[in-house]
Amino acid sequence: MSDQPIKSLGLSPELHAYLVEHGTPPDEILAELARVTRERIGGLSIMQIPPEEGALLTFLARLIGARRAIELGTFTGYSALCIARGLPPDGLLICCDVSREWTDIGRPFWRRAGVEDRIDLRLAPALETLASLPADRSFDLAFIDAVKTEYWSYLERLHGLLRPGGLVVVDNVLWSGAVVDAAQQGADTQAIRAFNERVARDERFDRVMLGVGDGLTLLRVR
Ligand SMILES: C[S@@+](CC[C@H](N)C(=O)[O-])C[C@H]1O[C@@H](n2cnc3c(N)ncnc32)[C@H](O)[C@@H]1O
Repeated sequence: MSDQPIKSLGLSPELHAYLVEHGTPPDEILAELARVTRERIGGLSIMQIPPEEGALLTFLARLIGARRAIELGTFTGYSALCIARGLPPDGLLICCDVSREWTDIGRPFWRRAGVEDRIDLRLAPALETLASLPADRSFDLAFIDAVKTEYWSYLERLHGLLRPGGLVVVDNVLWSGAVVDAAQQGADTQAIRAFNERVARDERFDRVMLGVGDGLTLLRVR
């Protein structure tokens, strides 16, 4: 059975382990990165995406033939490793985070997996890094997993960076179920609700919301 915390909403531990094992399960490097993150970070390690979401990110990157990708919110590098593995050897993944301490944990794992050369880590607020990139529609894939109250600003900027047919993957869109619980009125919950409402009416994208992990929205640029 998986020793990850259960994060795909509503799944029993047994079903979660079953679906992880019957997809592409995490290899030794990803499993060790998850274990090291738990040991060194403790409770906050829950921020790491679960293994089935990692497998999906690699799958999607390969499916769309992604060469250039950007990630907002890298933490200890699990999702970055999954995305980078889905890129060709000369591909590029720009990773945006503000924590050297956390991203330093991921680097040796990127090296071991042979994808370090594809990863360009920018230690700055994601909105600053996004603003520094030319809106030349040269990116194929984006993964949003940083500051929840900034999701809409990220998406607005990403739209100009992604090619038609490019894909935006947005994490935590169900926020542990809080989006449908009227008693939950925290800033992050309200921001995610507002983001979901706007996305649901946004005709710039084809839209799918999945119950993977903590809720995942896929947006394909029209
Ligand atoms: C949920 S975690 C990302 C988890 C990661 N995708 C993974 O799979 O392990 C959110 C990350 O956003 C980072 N962060 C916080 N404020 C930020 C900002 N303004 N710009 C970019 N990253 C930020 C945090 O340091 C943290 O590592």
